[in-house]
Amino acid sequence: MPWRETVDPYRIWLSEIILQQTRVAQGLPYYLSFVEAYPTVFDLANAQQEEVLKLWQGLGYYSRARNLHETAQFVANELQGVFPSSYKELLKLKGVGDYTASAIASICYGEVVPVVDGNVYRVLSRYFNIDTPINSTKGIKKFKELASTLIDTKNPANYNQAIMEFGALQCKPQSPYCIICPLNEGCEALKNGTVTSLPVKLKK
Ligand code: ADE
Repeated sequence: MPWRETVDPYRIWLSEIILQQTRVAQGLPYYLSFVEAYPTVFDLANAQQEEVLKLWQGLGYYSRARNLHETAQFVANELQGVFPSSYKELLKLKGVGDYTASAIASICYGEVVPVVDGNVYRVLSRYFNIDTPINSTKGIKKFKELASTLIDTKNPANYNQAIMEFGALQCKPQSPYCIICPLNEGCEALKNGTVTSLPVKLKK
């Protein structure tokens, strides 16, 4: 994954905004075109909104693209192109929620904060066979706490990226190939035959 070869907060931020609610296979080409068109936050900030939306075409959720552009302008113009360097400060950026702030803080600055994105919910709910809905208050708290106990405090960046990537490439939503999974021995969902029914998500 190309975003594993950088700790540039601009590129990590870009990759996480693109990968939010988007599969890696779908998001990857968009990440590559954005990095090529806008190698720095200043390039993105100076682009025309129309051009940014055009590059975004096909990803959906256009508010994400507008926030992306607006935040790039904020970082370029108000913060001299320097991204905030802590989870708490990153959260203040428009379009940056808990998940993106954790990803940037851990990957770029080594802060010990667990990332809990869709991939992580899937891996943890299956490995530990947890059927608490991932979109319930109880579930959000439970998975965040579990992730906090698992994170490698010496290398949070590697840990967070590894578990997201594991969810994206091996512990896939549909037909994960459990027979060749390196974690199959300890997987409680596999043992209980619940792999494909996890994670549980409440209809709202
Ligand atoms: N999905 C969201 N962020 C990701 C990452 N850093 N690696 C793999 N899949 C992801």
